[in-house]
Amino acid sequence: MRKNIVAGNWKMNKTLDEGIALAGEIQKLLKNNPPEDSGVIIAPPFIHIAKIAGLLDGNIGIAAQNCASEPAGAYTGEVSAAMIRSAGAGYVIIGHSERRHYYGEDNPILKKKIEMVLENNLIPIYCCGEILEERNNKDHFNVVKNQLNDALFFLSPEEFTGVIVAYEPVWAIGTGVTATPEQAQEMHAYIRGLIADRYGSEIAGNTSILYGGSCKPDNAAELFANPDVDGGLIGGASLNAEDFTAIIRAF
Ligand code: PGA
Repeated sequence: MRKNIVAGNWKMNKTLDEGIALAGEIQKLLKNNPPEDSGVIIAPPFIHIAKIAGLLDGNIGIAAQNCASEPAGAYTGEVSAAMIRSAGAGYVIIGHSERRHYYGEDNPILKKKIEMVLENNLIPIYCCGEILEERNNKDHFNVVKNQLNDALFFLSPEEFTGVIVAYEPVWAIGTGVTATPEQAQEMHAYIRGLIADRYGSEIAGNTSILYGGSCKPDNAAELFANPDVDGGLIGGASLNAEDFTAIIRAF
């Protein structure tokens, strides 16, 4: 069901103690003044998940930042979707541009990861987005379309219901350069149109599409005000409880 969502992607930051403290601070700030109409998710590193899940009161969802493309077995260093589920997470970020670009995760691998996530009753937060060169070449719509077609749109309508999509232009991630509200709205409307073409307008209208890329307390409101922007996937600003909760209150 479509709702406003703010998800914090901690990436490879925070020791366990620091992560526990941050999660506790976020929970406290939200409890004192609960957000009216937005869901909150945090995505700490794998090894923090079980501990943090035990501390949170259920109003904050937990996501893993990645998962293995195989169910189990001799895959040294990998973490399966079943393990993530058993540790207390409900979501998995799939296809973040850092996974695509630093770890060579292409659409066929991401498709397998999406399968693993769904098989384990987890909700994928599927990331798509173009690099600057692709935008400059006016290829950004095609790139995003292929990322959705190749790794996500194989799902049945039933499976697709509940999937969260995040549009993250790579040139805006961690750079301090944000997409303008117009650029964000344009791409979000395009993505919703693609979902409508594949699954029909009812499912498209019920899908949450998040924006990611240098979203901060001072620009979140103008981004979230767009009709097709249902919240944000926040990197840097999610590492500070005050900033993160300010973004949650930007709706
Ligand atoms: P950023 O990261 O907010 O630090 O730009 C966004 C993301 O990678 O999800």
